[in-house]
Amino acid sequence: MLIRSFALVATLVVATLPGAAVAAAQDAPTRRPDVIYVPTPEAVVEAMLQVANVGKNDIVYDLGCGDGRIPVTAAKKYGARGVGIDIDPQRIREANENVEKNGVGDRVKIIQGDLFEQDLSQATVVTLYLLPSLNVKLMPKLMKELKPGTRVVSHAFDMGDWKPEKELDVDGRKVYYWTIPKR
Ligand SMILES: C[S@@+](CC[C@H](N)C(=O)[O-])C[C@H]1O[C@@H](n2cnc3c(N)ncnc32)[C@H](O)[C@@H]1O
Repeated sequence: MLIRSFALVATLVVATLPGAAVAAAQDAPTRRPDVIYVPTPEAVVEAMLQVANVGKNDIVYDLGCGDGRIPVTAAKKYGARGVGIDIDPQRIREANENVEKNGVGDRVKIIQGDLFEQDLSQATVVTLYLLPSLNVKLMPKLMKELKPGTRVVSHAFDMGDWKPEKELDVDGRKVYYWTIPKR
């Protein structure tokens, strides 16, 4: 009874909110993003896709995809399929607009959610621009879910003790490259 009353009050409160407030409530990320949005410059996007040798047989997952520029470029220029995951609804909107604007809707999927809770097993390439601590936190999930040979590329940040196979400097920015080892 108490729960039902509470639900009714909550419904009424939302129903009496002004339209903008309701929209803002719907727009809020399910939880605070672990890192703020800063886009990767296009030259670095290109270098990340090239170092991973992305081609038409690849499925490129960008974890924390922002405006979707990495999966969009992977599809448009390299013929790959792409998946972009972001927790922020504003970024999801921008990424979907980007997908539509570039006509890659048949090859790129944008998912709203927490990157730590997604199934990554279909990826052949994973791209990251997060934080050093998040890369380290993510590493066990990458090792568990990704197939051996899957390529991992990170803009700016390495992955603790996991030594990269390649390290590039693109206009003063670092790009790190690894492949998932055999189990
Ligand atoms: C530094 S930006 C990188 C954007 C894009 N990957 C790029 O390189 O241009 C990091 C992105 O991660 C998203 N993000 C942060 N925490 C997240 C989480 N737990 N799950 C999914 N996305 C997250 C942010 O909303 C932001 O768009």
